[in-house]
Amino acid sequence: MSRTRPYRLVLTTAAAAMIGAASLAAGMPQQAAPPPAGPGLDLVNERCGFCHTTNQVFAARKTSAEWPAIVQSMIDRGAELSPEEQKTVNDYLVAHYATDKAAAGPAASGAAAH
Ligand code: HEC
Repeated sequence: MSRTRPYRLVLTTAAAAMIGAASLAAGMPQQAAPPPAGPGLDLVNERCGFCHTTNQVFAARKTSAEWPAIVQSMIDRGAELSPEEQKTVNDYLVAHYATDKAAAGPAASGAAAH
């Protein structure tokens, strides 16, 4: 009596199907290069996506001098940021999205510190 019991196979197949469906539902985001995490990112996601998408924020090519002016102009338009939050957003955007900072490299525009 060494027959494998058929119901075992059925159960195994059903379980595999369920796991397959679950991992499909969980989804694999296919977006490349997500914005770096940080307190500034939370604020941008919460406060800067009303009037335009946050993609527009991350796609903007601005210098470290332009970012604070842009954030201020967004506040003038109605973005809700306290002075403290404004500074956090400025720091975040300058650190990660300023064209004259790390991403562009020091040789990009001759804006060396000394
Ligand atoms: C009350 C609506 C509103 C909110 C909230 C808002 N924006 Fe804007 N934003 C606009 C409008 C309108 C424009 C397009 C007009 C323009 O470019 O001057 C714009 C354009 C921009 C641009 C492109 C500007 C350019 O010169 O290329 C950037 C970058 C930007 N917003 C960043 C932000 C950030 C960062 C925040 C959160 C602090 C924010 N926005 C929140 C209304 C808003």
